[in-house]
Amino acid sequence: MNLEDIDLTDLDLFAEGFPDEVFTRLRREAPVWWHPPTEHTPDEVGFWVVSTHRGAMAVAADAELFSSERAPGAGGGGTIIQDLPYGFAPGVLLNMMDDPRHHRIRRLATPAVAPKALAAMEVELKERAGRIVDAIADRGACDFLSDVAVELPLQAVAALMGVPDADRHDLMTWSNTTLDYEGRELGETNEAVAEAAGSMAEYGSELIAEKRKVPGDDIISAVTRGLIEDDLGGSRPLTDLELLMFFNLLVVAGSETTRNSIALGMVALIEHPDQLEALRHDRSLMPTAVEEILRWTSATLYNRRTTTRPTELGGQAIEVGAKVTLWWPSANRDESVFDEPFRFDIRRRVNPHLAFGYRTHFCMGANLARMEIRVILDELLDRLEDFELTGPVERVRTNKHAGVCRVPMGFKRRRQA
Ligand code: HEM
Repeated sequence: MNLEDIDLTDLDLFAEGFPDEVFTRLRREAPVWWHPPTEHTPDEVGFWVVSTHRGAMAVAADAELFSSERAPGAGGGGTIIQDLPYGFAPGVLLNMMDDPRHHRIRRLATPAVAPKALAAMEVELKERAGRIVDAIADRGACDFLSDVAVELPLQAVAALMGVPDADRHDLMTWSNTTLDYEGRELGETNEAVAEAAGSMAEYGSELIAEKRKVPGDDIISAVTRGLIEDDLGGSRPLTDLELLMFFNLLVVAGSETTRNSIALGMVALIEHPDQLEALRHDRSLMPTAVEEILRWTSATLYNRRTTTRPTELGGQAIEVGAKVTLWWPSANRDESVFDEPFRFDIRRRVNPHLAFGYRTHFCMGANLARMEIRVILDELLDRLEDFELTGPVERVRTNKHAGVCRVPMGFKRRRQA
């Protein structure tokens, strides 16, 4: 394949998973590569592709030059390839906002995901994980994705946001619909997606109003109650739109990525049975195993930035207003950083993966996601054994997420030792 034939906006390229051979070539031959527009490219505008670990860190570390919001004065921007209108998501959604406002809002929410708050959630999550595994234990087979991996992240994010148990099912249904990419091309939406997004927004607004009246110790109450500095040196509460976007971001960012990491992490363990058994017998391996699962699965495939002035990167001159994409799974297979990057190794000691991004926009849910992966694996290994894949793992056709839609799995309830 010639470099000119690579089309990262053709979703078919991602239908069987991340195209590692394409990115191995890019890392070697063109670590900062100009992707010309193709028939699939939104906005008909090309973009830069950064595929190495060093390049991704350099861009993510300079959030002023590489904006998550937009180029100065531009009408659109954001962190996906297609421009989103400014004021709709860019400039309003935390991950598509630049400092200083980004930092002000992030600071309000940080205590809710700090180690102390998460430690308090762990007992509840462990009980929930136990119930999820118990519900399938005697069935001998399940779709690991929908029966296990989907459940815990949504329950966790609902608990984090103080969503009552009775409403969690609705939240799950809407969020699953908005995340269903089947049959959609880049930038497209459909009626079911729009309807689910509308219901979720309505629910989010009601939840925010409720938290204003009766605050709890959840993350939505914290941001609803908090004040941020305004640009004139005074302070103000977040607007309704900012709050609603924060709610949406947590539901989407918190559930899909973690579910895919759990699902593909389990697939990796089943495909490496010696490592699965090693982990079962020695849980002190759990911390390195979780990091390796995060590196291996790299659930977010890319994020975009926009240059705020002309610059140079990897020997390439880049114009102001250019789209620059960072490909996390490629950075996480960079052979100059990881020893044998294509080997799944739960004992890997040096593992500076970028699955959660880097610096300014580093994932706020990183420690929650780590805890979820650990807790669900513990429950699975305690209660079940003889795991096997009983059919093909089905993927979602998207270049944004390491998306899976079916993981047929067989197993037995574990005989008590
Ligand atoms: C395995 C699971 C997860 C992965 C792989 C992941 C990945 C990422 C990545 C790559 C970014 C950086 C985006 C950028 O630089 O533009 C990010 C940001 C973010 N993530 Fe996660 N995420 C995960 C789980 C979660 C969870 C559980 C939550 C919430 C409870 C969450 C909430 C967020 C938020 C709010 C941001 C934006 C932070 C900011 O802009 O300052 N994520 N995540």
